[in-house]
Amino acid sequence: MLSITRNNRSTMITLDTTNLEKVIPEHGLSTSEMEQYANGLKVYLDNFLQLDQDFYKVIDDVTAVNRIHEFYLQTKGKFNDIIVLGIGGSSLGTICLQQSLKHLFEHELKKTEWPRLHVLDNIDPALMREIEDVIDYEKTLFLVVTKSGGTPETLSQYFYFEDRYKQKGLDSKNYFVFVTDPEKGLLRKISREKGIAAFDVPATVGGRFSVLTSVGLLPAALIGIDIEKLLEGARSMRDRFLSESFSENLPYQLAVMQYLLSKKGKSINVLIPYSQKLIRFADWYRQLLAESIGKKMNRKSEVVHVGLTPVNALGATDQHSQLQLYNEGPNDKFFLFIEVANLGEPLKIPYLSDDESVAYLKNTSFNELLNIEKAGTEGALTQNDRPNITIKIPEVSPFVLGELFMLFEGATAFLGELYDIDAFDQPGVELSKNITKKLLVEGTNVVP
Ligand code: PA5
Repeated sequence: MLSITRNNRSTMITLDTTNLEKVIPEHGLSTSEMEQYANGLKVYLDNFLQLDQDFYKVIDDVTAVNRIHEFYLQTKGKFNDIIVLGIGGSSLGTICLQQSLKHLFEHELKKTEWPRLHVLDNIDPALMREIEDVIDYEKTLFLVVTKSGGTPETLSQYFYFEDRYKQKGLDSKNYFVFVTDPEKGLLRKISREKGIAAFDVPATVGGRFSVLTSVGLLPAALIGIDIEKLLEGARSMRDRFLSESFSENLPYQLAVMQYLLSKKGKSINVLIPYSQKLIRFADWYRQLLAESIGKKMNRKSEVVHVGLTPVNALGATDQHSQLQLYNEGPNDKFFLFIEVANLGEPLKIPYLSDDESVAYLKNTSFNELLNIEKAGTEGALTQNDRPNITIKIPEVSPFVLGELFMLFEGATAFLGELYDIDAFDQPGVELSKNITKKLLVEGTNVVP
């Protein structure tokens, strides 16, 4: 059993919820509405802590981190490409880590010491064929990531590439590493039979909550992301998640807002980072919220059909794609902005025209323009009585990303308690997996 260590650096994230009070009460939330839930915090927290769910404990797993470091040292310089085979919770966190924390054009840079990372999270043959065009098998490491060890998409990809090594007369155990359940599943069995190294996904951590296990940490470390800082950030937000004080507990506050606004008809949650780096964070969260909270039954076995529909948007890009709908379409959405205070060295916008129509660009920078555009969008939504909050972060760094993962995982766990549903299963996904398998075996449509 893992013990929980306290963190020595405090959270750097704040929630600005002032706009919820500015929109009319029918569509917003007052402080008193929120505070009515303050007393429930301890009960919901205690209920959650009874569950066998350890996403908030695995971030103390020093043994896993040490093993990842050892593996990194053993493989350093051996591979040009790393390919992750995985889907859903086994890939989205890794995609987010790479997008958020690595140079966006790293491999166009003249010199980089890090291997290229490709995440194959689909079975479209075009993807498989085209990756083969750019890799050298002898300089490629495959990370096969599947918690269950039996996901058809991931297993079929593994078989394909394993066969490639066989055809080339190369010993696959030098080119494959598995990340899977410590005991169960086909992949674990294969790892034992073939002597392929395997890292664990703890049985008590669900796929979509597993980014801070070897699932995300191993690929991240292999491309040079500071995983210690990531975990440190997660631990700092974990302190908030476990706090019984309403004002301290940001994950609970977030969940209460999502829950209460869904009761006011805002069942669509739009996450809008004003940061190119965080575009994939919104993808990661989309799965977490959709699979965790979209449920037919509650814990009393009543049919409830609850769910929050996650939508991804990107500032400023989607102002020219979605904003018309958001401002004037149905008032059925809750907007969650992410605002980054430090977007790096100010990048000045040269003032090359004295035309009046662009006077507003004088003496400004891209940094300022992006955040002011966010303020404009937020202002318009508020004027139109569209509930919105801003998650303010100081920068996009490993520490802050760790905090963000834990903020949203913690909020999702609390949402499960507020709706009284199991946020950690996915019967709807399992059903489609079973039907697909039957279709493949029987070749007939088994849908009644
Ligand atoms: O959250 C989940 O459990 C799922 O979305 C899984 O991550 C996804 O189905 C992939 O499963 P596995 O990691 O077992 O291959």
